[in-house]
Amino acid sequence: MTIAANLVIFGATGDLSRRMLLPALYFLDADGQLPEHLRIIGAARSGLSDDAFRQMAREAVAARAETIDETVWTRFCARLAYRSADLSDDKSLKPLCELLSDQKAREDIFYLSISPSHYTDACTALKSAGVLNAQSRIVMEKPIGHDLASSRAINACVASAFPERHIFRIDHYLGKETVQNLLAMRFANVLFEPLWNANTIDHVQITVGETIGVEGRRDYYDRFGALRDMVQNHVLQLLCLVAMEPPAKFDADAVRDEKVKVLRSLKPIGARDVRTKTVRGQYGEGVIGGQSVCSYAQEAGGGTSEAETFVALTAEIENWRWAAVPFFIRTGKRLADRRTEIVVQFRDVPHSMFAGSAENDMIANRLTITLQPEEQISLTLMHKTPGLSASGPRLRPLPLNLSLTEAYKLHQPRRRIAYEQLLLDVLNDDATLFVRQDEVEAAWTWVDGIADGWSQAGTLPQTYPAGSWGPPGVFALTERLARTWAA
Ligand code: BG6
Repeated sequence: MTIAANLVIFGATGDLSRRMLLPALYFLDADGQLPEHLRIIGAARSGLSDDAFRQMAREAVAARAETIDETVWTRFCARLAYRSADLSDDKSLKPLCELLSDQKAREDIFYLSISPSHYTDACTALKSAGVLNAQSRIVMEKPIGHDLASSRAINACVASAFPERHIFRIDHYLGKETVQNLLAMRFANVLFEPLWNANTIDHVQITVGETIGVEGRRDYYDRFGALRDMVQNHVLQLLCLVAMEPPAKFDADAVRDEKVKVLRSLKPIGARDVRTKTVRGQYGEGVIGGQSVCSYAQEAGGGTSEAETFVALTAEIENWRWAAVPFFIRTGKRLADRRTEIVVQFRDVPHSMFAGSAENDMIANRLTITLQPEEQISLTLMHKTPGLSASGPRLRPLPLNLSLTEAYKLHQPRRRIAYEQLLLDVLNDDATLFVRQDEVEAAWTWVDGIADGWSQAGTLPQTYPAGSWGPPGVFALTERLARTWAA
């Protein structure tokens, strides 16, 4: 295992760095997970001193940690340095290069916490500044491009500076505990695998619901919309983990080989199907948690827009395991609840020996994997209600709950930031939970088909009231296939 010596964060004064990266690194240090000599170097356009950056980092950590452990802070603070750098001008990287070159044999990680529109500039500048060596790694946030063509252009430029095994494309959903638990549940138990197919599973629902709006990112949302912001990455990653074949090993190639097969098996959705298989929505005014909120059109004084803040889709995976099993997807902003969950709906029993009374209506088993707000896995099973009965046992469904939050309360008093696991993996050079180039491109291929379908069919977003579960069409989507949303 290789250990890095320098982690350079470009965009170190930005929102992601302050809200996630710096606190996650502090927590890793507190857990003794950072390599002893790791330096963390902030880089951005503003001219900050090392001390001003350390102060900024302390505020960032304080905003996240209940208390700051001063011993940990002293160690963490000593790792921090700052150099101003403008990635559109390789000469401005000189102070950073000088700082790095004080170590001869070194491994550097360059974390691009900057707008993806600057990724190619960044790679070009790093190359011409002569700062890269055979061990250098790069970390990039989503979105990689806006469509297949632009993602290929970015990937090609990055590939000219870094080999694929040194490129870490982050999808922070893969750092979430329950997402990794989905893998453990599927592949560390014998129970599920024999049932995990079209013979027993009726359909799957994936919901990523948020109550927040676009939070000052109106420009970005106008260009990307929910399809590119959420479906292309987070939602498709969840779908891959539910649908993929068992990888031979938990390693970067084995896991990603299986995910990419799922993405390539997605049935294209084009102009002919968008009316029946997709719903596009945009939030109007409404009430969330008792507070009135403005419509998307009123956000940041942006005016009307054709961007969707909500998408629902019926995805189909064309392979033996999943033939004719619909995967219903919905994600949106300003919805009724913050809820991220995967529902695996099993089929009805083929014959019920308990038939006869309405109370004995059989409810098919359902596995619900909740990622947010709490981490929980629940399986509903039919059981006999207690008590006497002169007309045979009375049945009801009851959930078998595995509350991860409760079970690990003592060991994990705080909920981890998804970036902790991902940063640790980058430091340890383990790309299993990162997205490979072919995955990104397969996801864009499918998503581009939908976006093109919308523009050919002239599908505009339907308005939904903030605080609801999306436009009415979302219910018709499942009802068309005689299914209903779980909640
Ligand atoms: C980001 C999207 O990738 O994920 C945001 O750009 C979204 O629009 C966020 O709000 C959701 O992440 P989480 O971890 O809060 O579910």
